[in-house]
Amino acid sequence: MDFRCLTTALADANALNAAWQGDTLAVGLFSDPDHPARAQVSALIGPGLPDLLEQRRFKAKAGETVTVQRLAGQPATVILVGLGEPAGFDGNALRAAAASIARAAATAGSRSLALALPVEGLEPQAAAAAMAEAVRLALYADLRFRSEPEPQPLPELVTLLGLPEGSEAALQSVDGLCSGVELARQLVAAPPNVATPAALADTAAAIAADHGLELKVLERSDCEALGMGAYLGVAQGSDLPPKFIHLTYRPVGGATRRVALVGKGLTFDSGGYNLKVAGSQIEMMKYDMGGSAAVLGAMRAIAQIRPEGVEVHAIVASCENMISGGAMHPGDILTASNGKTIEINNTDAEGRLTLADALVYAGKLEPDVIVDLATLTGACVIALGEEIAGLWSGSDTLAEALLSAGQAGGESFWRMPLRSSYKEGLKSAFADLKNTGPRPGGSITAALFLQDFVPKDLPWAHLDIAGTVWSDKGRGLDPAGATGFGVRTLVNWVRAGALA
Ligand code: BES
Ligand code: MN
Ligand code: ZN
Repeated sequence: MDFRCLTTALADANALNAAWQGDTLAVGLFSDPDHPARAQVSALIGPGLPDLLEQRRFKAKAGETVTVQRLAGQPATVILVGLGEPAGFDGNALRAAAASIARAAATAGSRSLALALPVEGLEPQAAAAAMAEAVRLALYADLRFRSEPEPQPLPELVTLLGLPEGSEAALQSVDGLCSGVELARQLVAAPPNVATPAALADTAAAIAADHGLELKVLERSDCEALGMGAYLGVAQGSDLPPKFIHLTYRPVGGATRRVALVGKGLTFDSGGYNLKVAGSQIEMMKYDMGGSAAVLGAMRAIAQIRPEGVEVHAIVASCENMISGGAMHPGDILTASNGKTIEINNTDAEGRLTLADALVYAGKLEPDVIVDLATLTGACVIALGEEIAGLWSGSDTLAEALLSAGQAGGESFWRMPLRSSYKEGLKSAFADLKNTGPRPGGSITAALFLQDFVPKDLPWAHLDIAGTVWSDKGRGLDPAGATGFGVRTLVNWVRAGALA
């Protein structure tokens, strides 16, 4: 799928006919029936539009589409997409409209699609990138696990109309960003018998080989030598060997900042001896590596976009949480690589154990900032639902930077408190701390647990993406299934200089 921009707008029918001869034109319509775009569409496809819209009961609500097929004339297909009220129309609404158009265009079998959407009041490059990303990501389909895949033909060329000269520059990074999101979606969607710790390491190796990144994979014995008892305690119940992945991007011309991205990489979370019960979504726990998928997806995008000045380290302590004669017991005391002892009062709070050693490792790289992403707690899903991820950080600058990077990419976060008094809940009678606090505030105590493994005074943010990595029905640009959540935020944040 190729993208380009044209300055030509819908208002200039003659110029449009001269500049663009594709098969499908998509036009955004606000709910106001007197809005000029309606007259412009009529001028292009003939009168009678109000009657047609009436007949199809088109109210121009956001996301609503009507497809008009014509057997003679060009374009053969016109897609009208509702935009709602002008007052609520922002970058996210633009993205959602472009995604709706993409789906309608795919249904209509479009090969060359043009989008005429309002971009007034938006930064043109951001608007162009938002539309292109939305079209590409909305049309992603994963047929890897079908025996007889029937791929839907996609538009080959997508033209964005009515954008000022120079907007096209923004399209350069669309392929890199989207291939990162798509990689994250593929990793999350792959079942646990396919997306194993070794498969994650192979994925990292492929990114390294394709783009000249550095890769180090630590085996169990290497992790033992480093004293990673928390991570290895989780891994020890599985027949699959753990893989500790460290992938590094170094910009040409040197770096002024060093960033560590840490992702939870549980390729399956059974809960361990605190086995997940019916209704706890055990069959969905393939997505418990969503943090590592976001981090690897971001690395693929970063490797392709090649931002200057920022060195990026991706760290994933990958393993499975399983049951066996060798699995950790509830009650075990483990020692993490910073020497802290942890009483395991619940084997299902395993993600924080793997992250503990990953964060210690990240801290030793002396980064300027650490960001971790994890499908860490059901409590975060209860608090924020499936559209908003939790963000914890002691640094206001870092929190603001991540919130606005998310905003720019259409991913939502809500800042949550690192209330230090809640650490009481992690006090153990036998060890330095226990891995699980009380049920109330469960996502906060999880964040406070992680904080113990981050060097004091180092800017750090924890993103709990448990609710956002998967969407049963699909939403916005996300088809049903894995969303690839986190990649766009990380890439935008790194591109903006990784402020912290
Ligand atoms: N991977 C789960 C968190 C999770 C739950 C993600 C539901 C997505 C949907 C995590 O390892 C876990 O089991 N957390 C426990 C922690 C509890 C034992 C303190 C939880 O949230 O129930
Ligand atoms: Mn768990
Ligand atoms: Zn888990």
